[in-house]
Amino acid sequence: PITRNYEVELSQITLAPDGFTKTIFAINGQYPGTVIHANKGDRIQVTVRNNIGEPSVIHWHGMFQRGTNWYDGVSGQTQCPIPNGSSFVYDFSTQEQRGTFWYHAHTHGQYMEGIRAPLIIHDPNDPYRKDYDFEYIITMSDWYHQRVSDMLAIRMSPNYGGRNPIPDSGLISGAGRYNCSAAPPGSECRENNPLAEYKVTPGKKYRLRLINTSGLTHFMFSIDNHPLKIIEADGEYSKPVIVNKLPVAIGQRYSVIIDANQKVDNYWMRATIDDRCLLINNQTVNFDSAINYNVTGILKYDGAGSGYPISTEYPDQLEPCLSIDPNLLKTLEPQQIPGPVTNKIQLVVTFRDDDQNVTRAFINNSSFAVDDNHPTLEKFVSDDVPLDQFPANQNIYAYDQLGGVIDIAYINNNSAIHPIHMHGHNFYVLGTGSGIVVDESKLNLVDPFPRDTFVVNSTSWSVFRYKADNPGVWSIHCHIEWHVEMGMIAQLVELPTELSKLTIPESVSNLCKQQDNSKRSKF
Ligand code: C2O
Ligand code: CU
Repeated sequence: PITRNYEVELSQITLAPDGFTKTIFAINGQYPGTVIHANKGDRIQVTVRNNIGEPSVIHWHGMFQRGTNWYDGVSGQTQCPIPNGSSFVYDFSTQEQRGTFWYHAHTHGQYMEGIRAPLIIHDPNDPYRKDYDFEYIITMSDWYHQRVSDMLAIRMSPNYGGRNPIPDSGLISGAGRYNCSAAPPGSECRENNPLAEYKVTPGKKYRLRLINTSGLTHFMFSIDNHPLKIIEADGEYSKPVIVNKLPVAIGQRYSVIIDANQKVDNYWMRATIDDRCLLINNQTVNFDSAINYNVTGILKYDGAGSGYPISTEYPDQLEPCLSIDPNLLKTLEPQQIPGPVTNKIQLVVTFRDDDQNVTRAFINNSSFAVDDNHPTLEKFVSDDVPLDQFPANQNIYAYDQLGGVIDIAYINNNSAIHPIHMHGHNFYVLGTGSGIVVDESKLNLVDPFPRDTFVVNSTSWSVFRYKADNPGVWSIHCHIEWHVEMGMIAQLVELPTELSKLTIPESVSNLCKQQDNSKRSKF
């Protein structure tokens, strides 16, 4: 196989993606960061040089990391973080995977400060290749003007009450627009910041790879006058489905094909933030009228004038905060649904104050507390700590039958909405429904679609199924980064017998030895 080598340098720069200048964490001096491209089957080697002033790690969202759990990039779970001033090489194979992915920091909210970028695995045998002429990558993200570390300190302080910071703006592919009259005095802010522009040639077809890389925000994506033909979700081909608007939850990816068959003109591309989703996830919100929830970019036909579009939005009213109906998507090739089930894991999520009056998230009554310098994988494999001796706040769930079939019933016993993401696998979304008791009669055991990120609604359940064939410590967590910091993570220890036979590469173990001399982040 071909090896794709990339360098990723993490550093602090000042930038104004929405017109407002702030210090951000950049990848190779830019935001959005360097796109990593590979073909299906390639090996990817990324040298990460950390210069942000605090330890960091990089996770490859959606990559299975079969046989390379130690390169999954989760601080305190699969590795010690990379100290400031050090480098570390991630080295993994794309194996059978293809599609749209992304990579991001996986520690202490850092990705919301800018450490997030697309990872695209091209398919030399793409079954849809004849259906489009060109492709574009479009990221959607929320954007905060305060430093993430400052917000986290406030967020996790006693009596704060569990509210999430509301983003100042939204970005399409790193560009947005802030109303500078709302900027605090003394700040640097540029009005009418340029928007992202995508040029199309009349008569051509375009594959758009959509990625929601937010910390809090769900987006509704659409392009005026241009229906979207879905062909991929989270790295899995789907049969074509045509929609006018597409809800994209944090962590989810889609490929859609659009046809540039409209009148030569400019058209709005929309990534709309629905305040109802923010409200649900925050309980109490003071709406800041300066926030522009109508995040836009421009689809520009060759030959169109330079003015702003005058196109109008599709009238479709969709449930604003959820995933697309899982039963709308069908895999392109029929799939064998694994069964019978060997392990059922129930994860019940609640929020409440801990004994320090800090509002935290609990999974089965235990709130995850990260131990950055003593990762689970290291403790279990190298130090032989038996799994039953890990403290309760490590939220460990183990299953040891090779080829076993796992059903995770994710029960959301609170009013917030959670985009649940699992590492190391795609899971079949068997079903979802309201209430906190799984209704087995609602499960689709015939043709469910596999994803790696799925939204569990307020006071609702979802059931996810996958096969235990990938030894590792795999994180399952809400992808709202504020909820992660509140402890909404569990660790799935898959096939501990197989896992304990593996040897962690020295470069990974060495990171833990370097920690003592490096500056640790406060959280
Ligand atoms: Cu996109 Cu655990 O992450
Ligand atoms: Cu959540």
